[in-house]
Amino acid sequence: MNVLGIYGSPRKGGNTDLLLDRVLDGAASAGGELSRIYVRDMVFSGCVECGGCDETGVCIVRDDMQEAYLKLVESRVIFLASPVFFLGPSSQTKAFIDRAQALWRRRMITKTASERKRRAGGAGYLVMAAATLGPEQFRGSELTVKYFFDALDMSYNGAAFFKAEQKGSILESPEELDRAYEFGKSAVAALTAEEGG
Ligand SMILES: Cc1cc2nc3c(=O)[nH]c(=O)nc-3n(C[C@H](O)[C@H](O)[C@H](O)COP(=O)(O)O)c2cc1C
Repeated sequence: MNVLGIYGSPRKGGNTDLLLDRVLDGAASAGGELSRIYVRDMVFSGCVECGGCDETGVCIVRDDMQEAYLKLVESRVIFLASPVFFLGPSSQTKAFIDRAQALWRRRMITKTASERKRRAGGAGYLVMAAATLGPEQFRGSELTVKYFFDALDMSYNGAAFFKAEQKGSILESPEELDRAYEFGKSAVAALTAEEGG
């Protein structure tokens, strides 16, 4: 089963990186075949609203998103990970999400309204690090990410939220790293079981 981790923090080696590494370790332990996207290393723009995908569902902007699209469509489980920045995902992550507009178009073109009630593409999850916990911290991101996975024809199956502020400080909480590991493991195990594997 193809599993994709999207690293959405601009801070290399920060809490999001460390947490998603553990999530993916867990996913691999359950049989996931991993690939990774580091958004901070990509050269790409947000959606420029050119309308180039309107008729085809294919983005015409030639940048690093083209390779990312291939990974997005071939993955059965996706973990989108980001720090909370001003009650939302990082701007890098949001630019990446906005480029899913082409996939949203593609879904609208290729599926009828009743077919769109079912999401056949697999399962999407959100992983976030924030300095503080509380319901408001993650609400906006969850709404956005749910819609992102919808565009990918995937169901949004849940989130894991972690409290950490300084770079790498999540390493002081081994139990939280274990929670991240279990989160990744159970996500892959759940879809494998659902698909009769
Ligand atoms: C620009 C910016 C905005 C932030 N906004 C929030 C916020 O709204 N809520 C919060 O709890 N933490 C906020 N933080 C703290 C980060 O979410 C936190 O430090 C997180 O662990 C960073 O993850 P990283 O190491 O993966 O980049 C913000 C940090 C930055 C740099």
